[in-house]
Amino acid sequence: MRIPALDTSAPGTEVRDGGPGSGAAGPLPPGAGGPLGGLDLFGDGFVRDPHPWLDLLRSQAPVHHDAGTGLWLVSRHQDIRRVLLDPATFRPDNAQHAVTPLPVAVLRVLARAGFQLPPALANNGTDSHPGLRRVVTRFFNARRVAEAVPVIERLAGELLEAARARIDADGEDDLFTSFAQVLPCRVLMELLDIHDVDPATLIRWSDASLELFWGRPTPDRQLELAQRAGEFHRWLTTTVRTGKATADSFIGALARHRLPDGAPLDPQTAVAACFFVFIAGQSTTGQLIATVLRRALVEPGLWPRVVQEEEAVGAWVEEVLRREPPVTTWRRVVARPVELGGVELPAGAQLLLMLMGSGSDPEVFTDPERMCPHRANIRHHLAFGTGRHRCPGASLARTEAAVALRAAARGLPKARLVAGAEGTPMLGLLSFRAPLRVAVADG
Ligand code: HEM
Repeated sequence: MRIPALDTSAPGTEVRDGGPGSGAAGPLPPGAGGPLGGLDLFGDGFVRDPHPWLDLLRSQAPVHHDAGTGLWLVSRHQDIRRVLLDPATFRPDNAQHAVTPLPVAVLRVLARAGFQLPPALANNGTDSHPGLRRVVTRFFNARRVAEAVPVIERLAGELLEAARARIDADGEDDLFTSFAQVLPCRVLMELLDIHDVDPATLIRWSDASLELFWGRPTPDRQLELAQRAGEFHRWLTTTVRTGKATADSFIGALARHRLPDGAPLDPQTAVAACFFVFIAGQSTTGQLIATVLRRALVEPGLWPRVVQEEEAVGAWVEEVLRREPPVTTWRRVVARPVELGGVELPAGAQLLLMLMGSGSDPEVFTDPERMCPHRANIRHHLAFGTGRHRCPGASLARTEAAVALRAAARGLPKARLVAGAEGTPMLGLLSFRAPLRVAVADG
């Protein structure tokens, strides 16, 4: 499979047009280069094993200007927490900007589809955010997640039965495409009452949107991705506008929602909220499940143990979230000149919070490189962010990953990883990282 993020012929950031991705790159700090000179956030080396780079950033340059993207990389746990807990100084407005600027031809494709993403959830620093967020949290609170467990178990069982049949027939099966990727999509469709689109289409739209906004695609690839993101947006707009959604569905709740001034929510913002939830609610969790399975399959003794020990499952998921989370970074933009980690940042500086690196900060986690399910502070990682925008889907994601791991270990007790000839293909976007293949056979 071709992975554009790993394609060395990709154009990087030279296609600039002043569009949504053209970030304000501050001046290079003195001494830039040095051991961090070779850092390429989309490069094969970084994507395969970001930890040596993240360690270097934390210890040598905790707030570092990355010339390749124009972003300031913030890598210490305490600095990232400070940023996330101060949304007035560090605004979320740039959370969904395209990191690779969109050429005019691509912007035209998106404009033809009526594509726009006004502030709604992750990119919303205005007073409409708390109310919109409440609509989301109502759908994914602890009660709803607990009620969803039988649904998740049923869907996991069905998918694994099919995987079992393919292993019996063909000798192996790729649990990424047949299980990890599909399960969260089908769960989300059930929870949000979506029935008029097939999961494969939703997954294709969602993955295309991630790559378009967080990847380093070539201009041709950007056009292809923009078509798909446009189709996704059109479908959402039709779904929102026709008013066919049931009153107790997520879209029905958005239709009833009132803004702080009492006005109804405009359809563009409702579509933007759906766009983010539909992507965040499935792709990230699929990526988490893929990493959880891969790591569990290579950890001696873990696969049989998770069948017996309830706590071992949750703790394993938590350690993967700390050490190898699917959402590796998140963005903020500086609202006023401010000092951070000893560096003076100008207003407009775009920050990339290295969430993955913060989970291995030795100031917070002892022996960070060890998967240690008995850590006292096992949940102190920032894989779901913190503060006003903290992920409202965290409980669902944790539950799905735990159910998926237990069901896979039960349903495929003899599973062993099949190594591909060229290693594991990896998804390597600015903010999303995961194995794209979890091929297993009976061992
Ligand atoms: C392993 C899976 C997931 C990870 C690692 C993850 C991570 C994140 C992160 C890092 C943020 C930004 C937090 C911040 O700015 O402080 C976020 C926001 C968000 N996530 Fe998740 N997420 C996951 C799954 C989900 C799921 C399953 C849903 C929905 C069902 C979801 C919905 C959202 C929403 C709506 C926001 C924006 C919240 C706001 O701005 O108030 N996420 N997530």
